[in-house]
Amino acid sequence: MNTSQNSFVQYEKDAVYKAIFSRRDVRTKFLEEKIPGSVLARILNAAHHAPSVGFSQPWDFILISDMKIRERIKHSFIEEFQKSVKMLESDQERQRKYTSLKLEGILESSLNICITYDPNKFGPFVLGRTSISETGVYSVCCAIQNLWLAARAEGLGMGWVSIISNCKIREILEIPDYVSPVAYLCLGYVSEFENTPDLERSGWLRRLNLENVVCYEKWRVHQSEQWSDLKDEIARTDFNNKGK
Ligand SMILES: Cc1cc2nc3c(=O)[nH]c(=O)nc-3n(C[C@H](O)[C@H](O)[C@H](O)COP(=O)(O)O)c2cc1C
Repeated sequence: MNTSQNSFVQYEKDAVYKAIFSRRDVRTKFLEEKIPGSVLARILNAAHHAPSVGFSQPWDFILISDMKIRERIKHSFIEEFQKSVKMLESDQERQRKYTSLKLEGILESSLNICITYDPNKFGPFVLGRTSISETGVYSVCCAIQNLWLAARAEGLGMGWVSIISNCKIREILEIPDYVSPVAYLCLGYVSEFENTPDLERSGWLRRLNLENVVCYEKWRVHQSEQWSDLKDEIARTDFNNKGK
């Protein structure tokens, strides 16, 4: 089979890149609209089709609609957020900016999902995980990204909340000790998706140029004769990004 037969046609490529570039971490502007079961099943199925080390599929998806559970999770967020604010005590301006950010949508979103990692699934010998044990968690992250992109395609906003205690999550969601919570996610329909990350718009950080993160042959080597054509392409890409 030649490469053009393997490629997507243009509108299919456009759709994939549209999902990638318009995906956002969303914590505001959630609507009350419920997520239909058919949509939820589709995006969970997309997550479940992620790559996983040794095909171990080490994830479980805990769906949380119960407000009493969510309030307990929110309480953990508040505690952990307060700790993080203290860490910025030496930099008042940064602390002020940090406290002005909205960093979760636990109660406002229509659904919370906790995604866990179970190292025992199909173990202890998991093909490909024998040297790098983290590959198990990496696999769960692949599922999370699939979920994020599928959600975006369905018009659903999703936000990842990591300012919470994993101990508390384990206790509240009755997750056994050997299983790790990897992500706590808030999902729901939203009134709009921003074009750029909230942290960029608020001036917290900006996206690095692609040029500065692509290395040639060795770590942090950015100069290369051999790669000059690609370097030019990348410079053009960075230029176009700025014009967005
Ligand atoms: C592992 C991980 C943890 C994150 N935790 C939080 C969080 O606790 N609160 C928050 O507001 N955003 C969180 N985010 C979202 C990032 O801030 C966001 O992805 C980044 O600013 C880029 O914005 P974008 O996702 O809209 O492109 C997290 C993202 C990842 C991948």
